Amino acid sequence: MNKVTLRVKVAQYSEIEPRIGQTIQVMDRKIALFKVTNGKVYAIDNRSPHPKGGVLSEGLVSGEYVFCPVYDWKISLVDGKVQAPDEGQVKTYKVEIEGDDIFVVLE
Ligand code: FES
Repeated sequence: MNKVTLRVKVAQYSEIEPRIGQTIQVMDRKIALFKVTNGKVYAIDNRSPHPKGGVLSEGLVSGEYVFCPVYDWKISLVDGKVQAPDEGQVKTYKVEIEGDDIFVVLE
């Protein structure tokens, strides 16, 4: 089977504020986009894996983690892992930056 990859321009690097999550929609997926203080950009699914499913783009960003706004789970923006003592996994997306354009890659 062929793997389908979709690369979508989602934002301008210069226009997004560090530590303020953005919500982007690509087809049927809601994705949270974050620029962290070291300048890197990460994209993860915009739902906490917790049963209540908090909106992660509204979470507080610290370093390379986001804290879910509902029950404060700490989630890595790098690999999507929920940090102990909680458990779970958020889907992450590859981000590519070209000049001022930010692309998210969906596979
Ligand atoms: S909804 Fe995110 S930690 Fe519960």
